[in-house]
Amino acid sequence: MKLFDVLSIEIFGASHAEEIGVNIFGVPKGTKIDKAFVQSFVDRRKSVKEAFSTARREDDHVMFESGINGDTSDGGVIRAVIKNTNVRRGDYSNIKHIPRPSHADYPAKVKYGLNYDLSGGGMFSGRMTAPLCIAGAIAKAELERKGIYVHAYVSEIGGVRLGSYREREVGKEDAENAVYNPLFALEKENADKAYSLIEKLKSEGDSVGGAIECLVFGLPVGLGGALFCGMEGKISASVFAVPAVKAVEFGAGVSFSSLRGSEANDEYYFDGDKVKTYTNNCGGIAGGMTTGMPLKLRVSVKPTPSIAKEQRSVDLVKKENVTLKICGRHDSCIVPRAVAPVEAAVALAIYDEALKEINDINEN
Ligand SMILES: Cc1cc2nc3c(=O)[nH]c(=O)nc-3n(C[C@H](O)[C@H](O)[C@H](O)COP(=O)(O)O)c2cc1C
Repeated sequence: MKLFDVLSIEIFGASHAEEIGVNIFGVPKGTKIDKAFVQSFVDRRKSVKEAFSTARREDDHVMFESGINGDTSDGGVIRAVIKNTNVRRGDYSNIKHIPRPSHADYPAKVKYGLNYDLSGGGMFSGRMTAPLCIAGAIAKAELERKGIYVHAYVSEIGGVRLGSYREREVGKEDAENAVYNPLFALEKENADKAYSLIEKLKSEGDSVGGAIECLVFGLPVGLGGALFCGMEGKISASVFAVPAVKAVEFGAGVSFSSLRGSEANDEYYFDGDKVKTYTNNCGGIAGGMTTGMPLKLRVSVKPTPSIAKEQRSVDLVKKENVTLKICGRHDSCIVPRAVAPVEAAVALAIYDEALKEINDINEN
């Protein structure tokens, strides 16, 4: 499936397959590939805190198989794989024909057949975001070389607010620093409250959702275009590739519905010879094009569907209603682990647009 204009990203494998990986087409010859940076970015999405994250531990060692000559791309397909080492298929054998509510199981079994292997979530698993992060890291690093910085952080967990661009100005350093705390929260003040909530829900066999915000600094004016060429659509389509993402908003987002034009409009001023806006309710995009102000988006992540609490489902073979208790290893809160994947998805969309529109993106 082709989402981008210049790049083509094929993610392959499955949660409990021998390996997962990515084929990346369209990275121009001569692009610097910093393997250590790619590895460190992939490591950011690993289980973040044992108290609430999955007990499945994987090394996630990234192996590049083609497309790189020394430390630059050779213009061919960049192929990278990660071996799955910690696979426990038995975890799912007792629920093989019983779809987990709000996971991909039911539509996948109807579409691909009852024997389709969904252990560990199959190709719908959050684990598939590791290869996404490989591609995203290459995009992010290349954008940074051009002075464009993509940073995401956790803004809310289950109603506990952890900082938001809607409440205060969030600068590049603020957003960057969110990496250095285990929840990837913008502000740490309420982090203990969020931990307690996650732990409480875990002990009750439940899970919780949250929100991630992503900011992009240093964008030129005018990337994107009208209608189907708009940046909101392009970025959202990429971000919705991250499992469990159910909403993407730009700037003031859904709250625009209750604002007046006089409150919502971002008025202009000159800062030296640069045109800026006093507010940034439109989130750095107007008419589908970047305005030169920081791009801001908020992503809602649903609670982990696999919960230990008893739920109602159906046995697709016996054709009867049943109750279900899910064993296996699941995060009670996946939000912090989705931060790097969101950053990766946003970086890829912008890198693709930049490759299309900025001729010198890869000048050497
Ligand atoms: C990093 C990450 C880890 C995830 N881990 C789990 C998990 O352990 N258990 C689970 O049920 N869902 C997990 N998910 C969510 C499911 O993959 C997702 O809800 C499911 O594929 C259905 O897709 P949808 O929520 O986009 O509709 C994870 C998602 C991400 C991004």
